[in-house]
Amino acid sequence: MSPRREVFSLPQNGIIDDKSEVRNLDPQLQELESSVESSLRPLSLDDFIGQEDLKGHLRIVLEAAKKRGQAADHFLFAGPPGLGKTSLAAIVAHEMGSGLRITSGPALTKSGDLAAILTGLQDGDVLFIDEIHRLSTAVAEILYPAMEDFQIDIVIGEGPTARSIRLDLPRFTLVGATTRTGMITGPLRDRFGFVARLDYYKVDELRQIVERSSHILSVPTDHDGANEIARRSRGTPRLANRLLRRVRDFVEVRSDGKITLETAREGLALFGVDELGLDKVDRAILDVLCRTYSGRPVGLSTLAVTVGEQPETIEDVYEPYLLTSGLLERTPRGRVAGPLAWQHLGIPAPEIRAPLFDG
Ligand SMILES: Nc1ncnc2c1ncn2[C@@H]1O[C@H](COP(=O)(O)OP(=O)(O)O)[C@@H](O)[C@H]1O
Ligand SMILES: [Mg+2]
Repeated sequence: MSPRREVFSLPQNGIIDDKSEVRNLDPQLQELESSVESSLRPLSLDDFIGQEDLKGHLRIVLEAAKKRGQAADHFLFAGPPGLGKTSLAAIVAHEMGSGLRITSGPALTKSGDLAAILTGLQDGDVLFIDEIHRLSTAVAEILYPAMEDFQIDIVIGEGPTARSIRLDLPRFTLVGATTRTGMITGPLRDRFGFVARLDYYKVDELRQIVERSSHILSVPTDHDGANEIARRSRGTPRLANRLLRRVRDFVEVRSDGKITLETAREGLALFGVDELGLDKVDRAILDVLCRTYSGRPVGLSTLAVTVGEQPETIEDVYEPYLLTSGLLERTPRGRVAGPLAWQHLGIPAPEIRAPLFDG
């Protein structure tokens, strides 16, 4: 199998062909991004809004590598989908003035696939491996020494005539991304010189992202309109851009083409985006906790089965935002609805239960 099918270089215009990138990824965690969305992708650190600490550290690491004229150390970015991990990989390549090759853990099924990619790299290239926590052990066995020593051992032939040869690799920078924040400890982490966790964005930062995107898409958007979209974006830039495009469609057809507080509200209501920007699965989770189980703790696997998702998807994709926003709580006995969930669903929260052995 030719590795070219999984890997490609960043085109001249610097826009990542998201379709190639996404082809091999788990559809639950990633979705196809249109070319419009990829045009909204920030390509330099200056365009990347928010995550100030991370950006500051990254700037220093990249600057130092450039001064030494060497490939930068390996980076690992962790966090829920849509927060900018792939964008950061493109930024690292762009800031270093180097080529970017993209693949993903699930796409690398055989160690030979990875070996072919590694030996095809140019000096200084950035290799981005999305969903790196899903690499098979056999593939990781090739990757780890390659990261440490820039060498790989490959076995040629089979049976008694098989022999192993060692190949030198060009100096490259590996950028890994993972949605499993639990993975940023342990053997994977140890291989990276720089590990960062991306957090949900503040409304103010999302507003700036919406304003930047409106500018690129040439849709007039005022402060309050951008703010309304930002507020309902679940802390996630990808979602902010997606809602912006929905509202843009709405104002172009039903209004004068300008996004204001009023038109943003109307447009979002038309597309069924709720006040907090929750989607069907988020709402299903809250429904199970509040209605089906009436506030009693629910185990992760039960919750997953009831809403029709994989437990990992619940943990990596849905839960982090529900937890940060006070809609869900984790207890030793299971997940329970947070105070905000009852309010949001318009169901009175069950009375605070009297202590069990109270008089
Ligand atoms: N910090 C940011 N500033 C501006 N836009 C951002 C930022 N982070 C993400 N985006 C936007 O959100 C989209 C999704 O980001 P992406 O890097 O694909 O996230 P991830 O790889 O973590 O799922 C990008 O196409 C980009 O338009
Ligand atoms: Mg990504």
